[in-house]
Amino acid sequence: MKIVLPGGTGQVGTVLNRALTAAGHEVAVLTRQPTRRGEVAWDGKTLGPWAEAIDGSDVVVNLAGRSVSCRYTADNLRAMMDSRVHSARVVGEAIAAADRPPRVWLQMSTATIYAHRFDAPNDEKTGVIGGAEPTVPGYWSYSVDIAKAWEREQEQAETPHTRKVALRSAMVMSPDRGGVFDILLWLARLGLGGPVAGGAQYVSWIHDRDFVRAVEFLVERDDVVGPVNLAAPAPLPQRAFMRALRSAWGVPVGLPATKWMAELGAFALRSDTELLLKSRRVVPGRLLEAGFAFDHPRWPDAADDLVRRMRSGRAQPRDPQRLPPRQ
Ligand SMILES: NC(=O)c1ccc[n+]([C@@H]2O[C@H](COP(=O)([O-])OP(=O)(O)OC[C@H]3O[C@@H](n4cnc5c(N)ncnc54)[C@H](OP(=O)(O)O)[C@@H]3O)[C@@H](O)[C@H]2O)c1
Repeated sequence: MKIVLPGGTGQVGTVLNRALTAAGHEVAVLTRQPTRRGEVAWDGKTLGPWAEAIDGSDVVVNLAGRSVSCRYTADNLRAMMDSRVHSARVVGEAIAAADRPPRVWLQMSTATIYAHRFDAPNDEKTGVIGGAEPTVPGYWSYSVDIAKAWEREQEQAETPHTRKVALRSAMVMSPDRGGVFDILLWLARLGLGGPVAGGAQYVSWIHDRDFVRAVEFLVERDDVVGPVNLAAPAPLPQRAFMRALRSAWGVPVGLPATKWMAELGAFALRSDTELLLKSRRVVPGRLLEAGFAFDHPRWPDAADDLVRRMRSGRAQPRDPQRLPPRQ
């Protein structure tokens, strides 16, 4: 198949591109700074010659968006919102204008769209959309607003010949340098992999190979339309999540961190504590219902596999210059 990955130069794009290319597909990446074969220039907001890459393609997986791992300043929040809304809108316009539109458009969204909660898991049918939780900082609602606006752009796009699926993905765990797993492991190796603010908040995650398999599954399943959760079926409290990570690497201790220590750490890493403190209890209702079987449903096994691959150095980044260096 011919597959187009707008925003495919980042962590998730690297994982997908590597797997889809290895499976024999022709992959084109839309990027603001093309440097490699297979990369096509676009600006993420206006139609241009890049739209020819979409015309005649089979599948589009739009991953574009300013990284959310940053300080939540007014400028950064606006860039997080605009980069997602504008890129989803213009991808929709390109598909609508195509003579031979792709048969499916998978649009990245996020598991962060669901409410911060501990009592029950969020699936697509019964899950609670976030933004109105009384017990969390008010500014957390902005991430939910971004996710809603992002999905709305895809929903509203008039692409009658193209099936639309929104990927409400949890953190994609891959052994690539600079990815979220690498950063968490780095913290654990420094002895900082303990519970944060008590560690009761749930962590949702998905193993990179299951992420790729789920994308392939959704490409094939013509009956699946709309939002789909991409998360392993067993989210777990942050305390247990980090314990399993420490055990996979062989780190004996992880210092606990209070909320204010997390604030300091997030400040030092130029990130935001929402990423650490929000309880993301998200489960893959629709994937399981459709018959998808996870290869790595449990975190301890997934963490062991990721550590093994990291140690054997098999998952080097496709382009080391594209990802931030290991800290
Ligand atoms: N990583 C995860 O675990 C995870 C989980 C759930 C959802 N997501 C979402 O999935 C998407 C991909 O994740 P990722 O980790 O691969 O992100 P990433 O590493 O930050 O890559 C995203 C890509 O988006 C492009 N981009 C950034 N700012 C842009 C802008 N203003 N306009 C157009 N394009 C822009 C960049 O490509 P160029 O610089 O080459 O143009 C970048 O490579 C993101 O939207 C993210 O929020 C990620």
